[in-house]
Amino acid sequence: MKIELNRSSPVSLVEQIYQHFADRILSGYFPGGSRLPSVRKLAKTVGVSPVTVVQAYVLLEKENFIERIQGKGTFVKDFYSEKGERNKEENILQQIPDYVHRTQDMYYDQQLANIQFSSPIVHPDLLPTEFLVNSMQQLIQKEPEILAQYGEIQGDFELRKALTNYLKREKIDVSPEDILVTNGSQQGIDLVARCFLGPGDVVFTEQPTYPAAIDIFRSRGATVIPVPMDHEGMRMDRLTSLLDTYTPKLIYTIPTFQNPTGFIMSQKRRRELIELANEINCLILEDDPWSEIYFDQSPPVHIKSLDQHGNVIYLKGLSKILSPGCRIGFLVASGVILNRLIAAKTNADMGNPLINQKIILPILQTNIISHLLKKLRDTLKQKRDLSLQSLSDFAPASVTWTRPQGGFNIWVTLPQGTNTIDLLHHLKKKNISFLPGSACYPSHIEWNHLRLSFSYVSDQELKKGIKELCLSIHEYLEAPQGKNRQAPLF
Ligand SMILES: Cc1ncc(COP(=O)(O)O)c(C=O)c1O
Repeated sequence: MKIELNRSSPVSLVEQIYQHFADRILSGYFPGGSRLPSVRKLAKTVGVSPVTVVQAYVLLEKENFIERIQGKGTFVKDFYSEKGERNKEENILQQIPDYVHRTQDMYYDQQLANIQFSSPIVHPDLLPTEFLVNSMQQLIQKEPEILAQYGEIQGDFELRKALTNYLKREKIDVSPEDILVTNGSQQGIDLVARCFLGPGDVVFTEQPTYPAAIDIFRSRGATVIPVPMDHEGMRMDRLTSLLDTYTPKLIYTIPTFQNPTGFIMSQKRRRELIELANEINCLILEDDPWSEIYFDQSPPVHIKSLDQHGNVIYLKGLSKILSPGCRIGFLVASGVILNRLIAAKTNADMGNPLINQKIILPILQTNIISHLLKKLRDTLKQKRDLSLQSLSDFAPASVTWTRPQGGFNIWVTLPQGTNTIDLLHHLKKKNISFLPGSACYPSHIEWNHLRLSFSYVSDQELKKGIKELCLSIHEYLEAPQGKNRQAPLF
């Protein structure tokens, strides 16, 4: 068994061994029921003392990843049974280890649920799909040669020009030369990680945060250090004290309508964060999927607009407001930082498909985008209100939730000791999905949260789904081991 331990890291060897197994159990690499190596064998293989391995196994057991059966060995718990079944056949991975340690598709393959609360996506009826179809037809007729060309690696110039105008309204004043078009903002996170992170590097993220960002940083071998949040975003006092132990190269933040909590980082904290990044010479990756979707008042200015020294890479995706299918996102950076990111984009795919960039252009060049955003804000505000009302009507008294002022998500908290993965298994039978909050924790997982995305379903499904969800929570909490569960209940 190969475990890469970094002996000069401030992260203890116990934590590193714990993290290795936790990630790989989450990804399905070690399916439920797999036997982990004995303490003595693992200690010998990785060159640590048996006490270190015992402590790592104790942590894993405490977090319900494994169970130790006297006289038999240490086994992975059966959380992800379906995934486990699949991977049992793929045990070639045991001989040829991959480097996408924590990544999995489990959380993303539930879109077919009848009532899907798991992915923060907008229902196609709310997006300008018909407009895009017409735009594509006209484009292909008028300029068929577009299919026979590579586009510019940095992105179509006309699109970048339109994006600078869009950003001006957002108080980010840049030129087309400062923009790199990416395949969704997801690729933006990946490019930043490929350029600037490697084994031993440290990234600070909010805790909880966007699961795919954790996966990407970990796949580069970086150490992800979570910073707790409150209603004003990342806690600067906690961040500052973490600096006594860690030197981050990158701080990843979703300051506006944070995914998954919906929190907004206050103006004051935005300023403090950028001052700190300048002081310690680190980069900030500001991920901004949906700041335009505000319900009450517009959010504080972007961290990027406060950036005077080029420390901030701003990342925007158009999936949540125009089209997830076109996979258009972009990042804003400058100087050598941008040059390296363009180099990484060259390695990754030599540029986005030109046609996808061209078909969204008219939307950005006209007033259509303002109308679209207004429609989205109005509709999603109604859905937010309906969701909150349904939760108030049906949720048990011990359950709490956030009241997002924008974005697509409500963060729901069950009593301590519960595990929303159990609840998800139960709800799957009713064809309802959500994201178990545990996916959003880089470490020290809290199992008792769930993210409810209210953006996709009809109002009728929303009411019905939340009622069913709440009924299942009632049943779960009333079941004999609903609290402090050791094994799946349903
Ligand atoms: C915070 C955050 N970043 C990035 C993404 C990726 O979006 P896309 O690649 O579709 O732009 C998402 C998707 O939900 C997200 O929530």
